[in-house]
Amino acid sequence: MNIGIIGLGSMGLNLAKNIISKKHKVYAYEQNSTIKKNLKKNNIQNLFLTKSLSELINKVNSPRIIMLSLPADKVDEVINELTNFLEPKDIIADLGNSLYLKSIERDNLLKSHKINFLGVGVSGGPRGAKNGPAIMVGGSKEAWNKTRHIFEDIAAKNDKQKACSFFGSAGSGHFVKLIHNGIEYALMEVLAEISNILDKFYNLNNDVIEKKFRDLLKTNSSSFLLRITSEIINAKNDKDQYFINEVDPEIGQNGTGVWAIKAALDLGVAIPSIYEAVSARSNSKNFNYNYDQSPKNKKYFLNNKDNEISLEQIIFFNFACSIYQGLNIINESNKWNFFDFKIEDVFQSWSAGCILQGKYLEIISKEFLKHKKIEPQYLYNLIKTNCSDQLKSVREFNSNAIKMGITCPVLSSNLAYYDQMFSNHKIGELIQLQRSYFGLHPIREKKSNNKITPYWTNL
Ligand code: 6PG
Repeated sequence: MNIGIIGLGSMGLNLAKNIISKKHKVYAYEQNSTIKKNLKKNNIQNLFLTKSLSELINKVNSPRIIMLSLPADKVDEVINELTNFLEPKDIIADLGNSLYLKSIERDNLLKSHKINFLGVGVSGGPRGAKNGPAIMVGGSKEAWNKTRHIFEDIAAKNDKQKACSFFGSAGSGHFVKLIHNGIEYALMEVLAEISNILDKFYNLNNDVIEKKFRDLLKTNSSSFLLRITSEIINAKNDKDQYFINEVDPEIGQNGTGVWAIKAALDLGVAIPSIYEAVSARSNSKNFNYNYDQSPKNKKYFLNNKDNEISLEQIIFFNFACSIYQGLNIINESNKWNFFDFKIEDVFQSWSAGCILQGKYLEIISKEFLKHKKIEPQYLYNLIKTNCSDQLKSVREFNSNAIKMGITCPVLSSNLAYYDQMFSNHKIGELIQLQRSYFGLHPIREKKSNNKITPYWTNL
């Protein structure tokens, strides 16, 4: 087949290479002159650069498949221009990190031109784009049927499945991608907090932390993020300095984490660890090491018999709680009439190629098949089966950090979230009574569900 791609930045170009490697031809359009110059220098077989959008449209056979790999703020402009050239039944697939609401809006616009639209979440960065990304698709069923073989061909695969799913209506693919990214922020922060505690409290140097993380790659907590973190922690520049001591700590973000939080707030879903991870990014411009109050005389060593903890269980617990929170948003979004997600399909699309991929996720996904529902019991069983020390390690690790003033907002919020659901307390009861006292809000008895009217409600 021949396919059109608009935008040959690092993602677009690598997707093009991937598509070409599957025996398709790509006609491409790119405005940036430096990118164009580089492409002309390194001639890529079966990649044909066109001079204008109209030339691109003329070259691609109809019904045309036009993929967009553009910065978020360029997508509308290009779609509007394309409507001048495309014909009914042609397909526009937006492969960028677009907001799902924009995808729904674009689908409506394109429907009025009888053009089919697909909103496609792609994970794995430029390397993944080239070698096999995870692909999350939503939009026109007709367009999906025509493009499915291409997406499945270029997607990452493991021995069981292809990391590519179609979720239904426009917006659904980008919705799953933004939840993926919210979770991604949380897992990245989990690993960053853990390595900081290993350094500041347990006095482990970069070599040892790298080795400990590498060893965990043989366990159920293994993941892509753990693998790259083990490498990064010990990587040095050409002056033999650790990058981690040199890099500016202000964390960037492209907005997908914030979108995940907004969706969760709208749906009334608790996602404390995703929120804390986004919040840490926003607060990173205020990180100030001059006021560090943590004790300077480090003396603890991990694996002293007295303070042995299981890093495998700590990582699994935190990853599982963060994944569960993200899945909860997806599950609850089914109450919006435009979504109808099957959680199995979400797991399939994250099963390889994406930033979340890992052995831990296979375990989380297998346990889901026993429950078939996103419900607290699922999380409870997951933790019970995989954290055999009844969270002793998690509690000790977190409290060591807190005692010493070592920051750990995501580790703390995961544990707080879990304890909130699975420990016995009277917090809801007391707050309901407070509300009743000052606001006369109606309250009910737990057992009978009958209305109760405490004496303070008689004015
Ligand atoms: C992925 C990534 C990818 C990218 C985002 C997040 O799944 O491949 O999520 O889409 O890294 O841009 O980046 P920020 O950290 O800038 O929000």
